[in-house]
Amino acid sequence: MSQKKRRLTITAALPYTNGPIHIGHLAGVYVPADIYARYQRLEGNDVAFICGSDEHGVAISMKARKEGTTPQQIIDTYDAIIRESFRDFGISFDNYSRTSRQVHHDTARSFFTTLYEKGAFEEHTNQQLYDAEADQFLADRFVIGTCPRCQNEEAYGDQCEKCGASLNATDLINPKSTLTGSIPVMKETTHWYLPLDRSEAFLKSWILESHKSDWKPNVYGQCKSWIDDGLKPRAVTRDLDWGIDVPLEEAAGKKLYVWFEAPIGYVSSTIEWAKEKGIDWEPYWKDEHTELVHFIGKDNIVFHCIIFPAILKEHGGYILPKNVPANEFLNLEGQKLSTSKNWAVWLHEYLEDFRDMQDALRYVLTINAPETKDNDFTWTDFQARVNNELVAVYGNFVNRVVVLTQKYYEGQVPQPQVFSAEDRALLEEIKHLPSQLSQAFEQYKFRESAQIFMGLARSGNKYLADQEPWKLIKTEPSRVQTILYVALQVAAALAHLGEPLLPHSSKKLKEMLNLKADTLSFESISAANELIAPNHQLGTSQLLFRKIEDAEIEKQLEKLRATDASSNENQQTHPPVKELINFDQFSALDLRVGTIVSAEKMPKADKLLVLKVDLGFEERTIVSGIAESFDPASIVGQQVSVVVNLAPRKLRGVESQGMILMATRADGQLEFMAPENQTENGSLIS
Ligand code: 2FM
Ligand code: ZN
Repeated sequence: MSQKKRRLTITAALPYTNGPIHIGHLAGVYVPADIYARYQRLEGNDVAFICGSDEHGVAISMKARKEGTTPQQIIDTYDAIIRESFRDFGISFDNYSRTSRQVHHDTARSFFTTLYEKGAFEEHTNQQLYDAEADQFLADRFVIGTCPRCQNEEAYGDQCEKCGASLNATDLINPKSTLTGSIPVMKETTHWYLPLDRSEAFLKSWILESHKSDWKPNVYGQCKSWIDDGLKPRAVTRDLDWGIDVPLEEAAGKKLYVWFEAPIGYVSSTIEWAKEKGIDWEPYWKDEHTELVHFIGKDNIVFHCIIFPAILKEHGGYILPKNVPANEFLNLEGQKLSTSKNWAVWLHEYLEDFRDMQDALRYVLTINAPETKDNDFTWTDFQARVNNELVAVYGNFVNRVVVLTQKYYEGQVPQPQVFSAEDRALLEEIKHLPSQLSQAFEQYKFRESAQIFMGLARSGNKYLADQEPWKLIKTEPSRVQTILYVALQVAAALAHLGEPLLPHSSKKLKEMLNLKADTLSFESISAANELIAPNHQLGTSQLLFRKIEDAEIEKQLEKLRATDASSNENQQTHPPVKELINFDQFSALDLRVGTIVSAEKMPKADKLLVLKVDLGFEERTIVSGIAESFDPASIVGQQVSVVVNLAPRKLRGVESQGMILMATRADGQLEFMAPENQTENGSLIS
């Protein structure tokens, strides 16, 4: 029974072209988006997978100044590097555009004009920070100062990267120009603001009522907190040299704010693609049956869930996102990935050392994806996953099946004889797998999908080890025919089902099995009685994955040690181990899983947040000293580990009824100790 084809517009955050792409970008946005797009195409759906370079914004002007070059040169250099990385890693965009292209300038300006003519903006003239020495207004990253929320002394004019607060440049305490280091003066200027307060009712019903249960808790929680805090007007124009001109005579010399125009880049990239293909772009953005899904990192939530939808709604005629499955962040060896500190694994450098091992990285980043909490990439974990899972399980299984078939049957799939219970169980497992995988993909649970996939390879590997065809070939040759026939069905299923996750290996495996390059829908895999028929001639065997040696990992670690980020400030000193306790003392602790359902700053206390935590059996108030590490808005929905039998105590007059377990990273930031996957509240931790 075939269902009607769906139409999906899948977008992945447009990367800034102020540097290359690193593993954090890949894990958080591009690999999950690519898996989803590839899966939807296999299902026969109509997919537009859209991206492009984000080429405006202060980050690019700053990079150009620092390198003594022009923004144009910077964007040309990094657009080329980023494009190549995406291509190398098999990120299958239908279109990858650039926001510096004419089509985008036209589309963004037309959006602005439509909103302007509808009276959707407010015009305000007020005092803004200005660097007299550089003759430049100081917006966004042109100014740093102390965050009024968490006291971080290096907060930017639009955002504090430490606590995640969204700021206006004039909110900063002790602002300083990043251009000249001078103290800014105030100067009058006029700008156009999007009065988000006017969209409050719409956002409340669209997000808070309609998406409470289908959006990820972290995404929903951040939106709720923004809305509950009261939405304020946001300026959508800037006094800058680099960017898209505001299409108003009275705004000569002013540019559109990058976060106003960049998301419109998804639309212009779609227009460019459709024109190239000779099709109509409008259904991809205007047909209410089209499913729009934005893949982004958590720092982009407010822009994609609040500001861009408010723009689309004001414009009229556009669909709104069905889902925004934002991921948390990936750290590298316990520290925050940082482009400026060069604390990163750059994709183009990875490929220099690990040639043709794109899928190894795709796999490790997927099985360890920061889906529900920040996660850590370590080189030793990478080595272990590649060697123990890809090489020892998937690769080994496939290799043995193909080599044995070559050896015993000159590479032809043997005719099965009588099926045993074990054979039937494994053939049955193949039939169940497509729907399990589909469910995980549809729910954006990509970690789970990689586990399910590897589970089948594991079953195949164990089956061969248990059946030992190499021992039976002399005594029971007809049994071996059946064993290899069954194992070959598993190998063929892996080749087809692995395409979204590990496209390069799937292609190789299809060549080994001499399967046609065409793809099979998951439904047809499930329905098929056999995936590879008797007498079919296999291709030649190749190694799917290679083992990673210790020396290769040491080389990567050495490279990291040599970067600035491993200087003194990042070197961790571990506190001494505390006195021994016995098991009974440990067992006296009652530890449970809970979910933060609300978080507020404790008045007049810089470090404290007042949390409400759902423990399944009851809700508790917990006062926690984590305010310097987290914006309250960003932690609603976060799962946590709670000591629930600690005697209550009052902090600043509020009774704290438990304690949240936290880990302190090398850079001093706190991390929640949370279960790997969503777990029922109240579950015992032992
Ligand atoms: O955070 C970033 O890297 C932005 N360049 C993402 C933009 S996404 C979209 F809105 F364009
Ligand atoms: Zn802050």
